[in-house]
Amino acid sequence: MNILVIGSGGREHALVWKLAQSRHASRIVCAPGSSAISEEVLASNGRRVECVSIGTQDLPLLLKLAQEMKSDMVVVGPDNPLALGIVDLFQDQGLRIWGPNRKAAQFESSKVFSQKFMERHGIPTASGGTFNDAGEARKFAASLGGKCAVKADGLALGKGVLLCHSTDEADRAIDEILVSRNFGDAGASIVIQELLEGMEISLHALCDGKTASLFPTAQDHKRALDGDLGLNTGGMGTYSPTPFLNEEELSRVGRMILDPFLKGCAAEGIDFRGILYPGVMLTRTGPKVLEFNARFGDPETQVYLPRLQNDLVEVLEASLNGTLARLDLKWDARPSVCVVMAAAGYPGPITKGQIITGLEKAALMPGIKVFHAGTVRAGNQWLTNGGRVLGVTASGTDLKSALSAAYTAVETIQFQGAQFRRDIAGKAGKASL
Ligand code: AMP
Ligand code: GLY
Repeated sequence: MNILVIGSGGREHALVWKLAQSRHASRIVCAPGSSAISEEVLASNGRRVECVSIGTQDLPLLLKLAQEMKSDMVVVGPDNPLALGIVDLFQDQGLRIWGPNRKAAQFESSKVFSQKFMERHGIPTASGGTFNDAGEARKFAASLGGKCAVKADGLALGKGVLLCHSTDEADRAIDEILVSRNFGDAGASIVIQELLEGMEISLHALCDGKTASLFPTAQDHKRALDGDLGLNTGGMGTYSPTPFLNEEELSRVGRMILDPFLKGCAAEGIDFRGILYPGVMLTRTGPKVLEFNARFGDPETQVYLPRLQNDLVEVLEASLNGTLARLDLKWDARPSVCVVMAAAGYPGPITKGQIITGLEKAALMPGIKVFHAGTVRAGNQWLTNGGRVLGVTASGTDLKSALSAAYTAVETIQFQGAQFRRDIAGKAGKASL
């Protein structure tokens, strides 16, 4: 099969790495891809992955590429092309493309849509309201004593959520998003939710329009610094599984979210084929969905795919074809950990072009795979080329050995100003004491 993958980050590196292991893949092209992605080799024929420099939002050029390469399957990594309707466009042209269509992608592209959908269909979430009038919004925030999450409706590079602990903070957040439009049109409407407390986990469910297959749990680390301090980032590290839900609890939580989700989709004519990724808070009064994403998490993908034992092409085919009910997802019991190495200054302004050393040595360590999020090869050197630079991923017989392997590799890899969290999976350690 000829496969086109769209995206260029650590998630897409992981997707390409796993697709390259498929016996069905005979050619993989990635747009725009990266130097590291272009070094992956297909298991079936030894061919290298090809990268073509087309941006993820340039739908006409992506379409031309898919047609020219006679792609049998297109795999979409990031949220923006999904929100722009890449799936609808490609399907209209008779192409097979994996991911939710524009209507289904609204679960991520509109927090107002998601909040209202959850309320309509009894999906457990934070109590909240949706607003496009600042006065009404302030009144609602005041009714919560200012303890609330103020969220821009649209996509805002993961930055459109402001957590507030007083009415002053809430008023400022409402002004920033709704009045000053710091996030542009994404802030034309907002969601305000009560502030929830508890353990936050990531769930992923693969959907085929009728069925949803739940993945094991994972946990991201969104803040830049140890102890969940510092600014919100795209994600500084993940591990899977987490100790916070046993299998029975996970399946119960999954059903609480996915049964009403699937029923609601059927009732509203939403054909969701792709990954539904709910961010979930485990609170004292039960699990609550904080938000939905409509794609693989980054860096969750980097810990899920090393654990997935199925052929990824077969998994995505089942999601596309509506035959998931006949497919058993099989997971390696060994835990997987990903520690993100970021550039100095991330998530603020960063400088690119720092020389990275130690990658070859790290690659030889048992159980280690380094996914590249923001790097570029220049001759025989690797240079930093983004905020998140690398996702150093390790598998181990238990979490402790996976962590120890990941951090040994992290210490081996160096670039000027490298920052990473030293407490990835720290909450798991505390939970199992
Ligand atoms: P979101 O983009 O909606 O996932 O929000 C980003 C982060 O803000 C989440 O990962 C949570 O850590 C936090 N968050 C979002 N909503 C709430 C809420 N209602 N209560 C507490 N924290 C929240
Ligand atoms: N892990 C955070 C995200 O993918 O949105």
